[in-house]
Amino acid sequence: MASISSSQDVIIVGSGVIGLTTACTLQRRLPNVRSITVVASEFPSPSPMIADSPRYSQALPISADYASMWAGAHYRPIPHLPASHPRYGSLTSQQQGFQSQLANEYCLATHTARIMKHLARATPEAGIEIMPGIEYLETPPPENIALKSGDVYAGDDDHFRVYTSAEMEALNKRDAHDGTGQIKWACEYETYVVNVHIYCAWLLQQFLQGGGKTAQKHLNSIGEALQAVPEAACPIIVNCSGTGLWDDPKIKVIRGQTVLVRNQYHSTITRQCADGTWSFLIPRPLGGGTIVGGTKQVSDSETCGRPKERQTLLENAVKYFPDFVSAPKDFDVVQDNVGRRPWREGGMRIEMDELKQDGVKLPVVHAYGAGGRGYELSWGAAEQVCELVGRYSRLQSRL
Ligand SMILES: Cc1cc2nc3c(=O)[nH]c(=O)nc-3n(C[C@H](O)[C@H](O)[C@H](O)COP(=O)(O)OP(=O)(O)OC[C@H]3O[C@@H](n4cnc5c(N)ncnc54)[C@H](O)[C@@H]3O)c2cc1C
Ligand SMILES: *[C@@H]1O[C@H](CO)[C@@H](O)[C@H](O)[C@H]1NC(C)=O
Repeated sequence: MASISSSQDVIIVGSGVIGLTTACTLQRRLPNVRSITVVASEFPSPSPMIADSPRYSQALPISADYASMWAGAHYRPIPHLPASHPRYGSLTSQQQGFQSQLANEYCLATHTARIMKHLARATPEAGIEIMPGIEYLETPPPENIALKSGDVYAGDDDHFRVYTSAEMEALNKRDAHDGTGQIKWACEYETYVVNVHIYCAWLLQQFLQGGGKTAQKHLNSIGEALQAVPEAACPIIVNCSGTGLWDDPKIKVIRGQTVLVRNQYHSTITRQCADGTWSFLIPRPLGGGTIVGGTKQVSDSETCGRPKERQTLLENAVKYFPDFVSAPKDFDVVQDNVGRRPWREGGMRIEMDELKQDGVKLPVVHAYGAGGRGYELSWGAAEQVCELVGRYSRLQSRL
């Protein structure tokens, strides 16, 4: 087990899925730490499905920048080309770099999947559910085509299966009258989905029950976190601020508009169309309705839902997933959701850093830039942060 000096305090900036998972992991893995405080401007809010409850009507609206409240959220793996693959050598060095990022994310995602599935079984009240994942691709990349039924796709025991050409033909025939594109690759596997409101509140509750502290404060810089926890001794700060303290030129936000409906679907299903658009359904466990998605709009700063986008999303869901509802008017719409994915070129930054604050060195561990994958990478990322915090603290204690 990693150790930390008992005179040290940890301050985590950010109460999104990355900050909260990190808080719970540090608490468990570094029991000697003096205190852990989560400082954030926004904390988990209840689901809009319970809008008539007094707690909700008193809650402040959440901003589009608090990505964790706007995610689906499901786990949909992104396969990578291993360095041993015959095609790997012909990739440009930039493409190889991207493949190694995906390989790294694959490790984080499968580690996370093991924990999420365990939580789904052991603590269903946490809002995670194991469920079939289905994908229809119109232009599959070589990484997908290389996969065979029985391969590990989403993690151990995922029952991964590639559709036969006869199955795809039947789907394409079914869709033909809509002028829909052709499915060229499809698969099915076991995955998990998350009710983001319930899950993040559950993480926060675990943390508080374990003795964690919180402070609500908007910071203009990472260093201001010290003012929120004035009693902190030899603090280590963990930067899980998503995009809220944005000065990293590698960050781009990607707008996502989805529709939350009360209708409950039975699987998480994604169609990737040839024109680059996506259509997906992500059921939210414990009666949280279904997310009908979704757009991916780079650097689009509109935070309101666009009615035209809602219409397109609902129409596509009817067209592509005909066993859900038979017409857009049959959807019982709760609201449009608009959130911003904290995307970062090169992937998440999980790194030790040292800032100068009033002439004093302030250790900071960064953990931001999860893009559209924050939930699926969360436990793996938290584990790496924990390693860095533990290693830093051991070094300090030897000086
Ligand atoms: C439409 C959509 C669909 C998505 N679907 C999925 C999915 O299916 N699966 C998946 O894994 N991921 C999905 N994501 C991505 C996921 O939501 C993000 O990757 C994840 O939420 C990032 O979490 P985070 O903790 O890094 O940041 P955030 O959730 O943005 O949290 C940031 C925290 O930092 C605090 N903060 C920021 N700045 C300051 C400041 N200056 N002062 C004080 N506090 C501050 C905020 O208040 C907040 O508490 C989706 C995202 C969107 C938008
Ligand atoms: C902290 O996180 C933000 C993203 O919100 C990033 O842009 C910034 O570079 C990080 N570091 C500091 C010192 O704020």
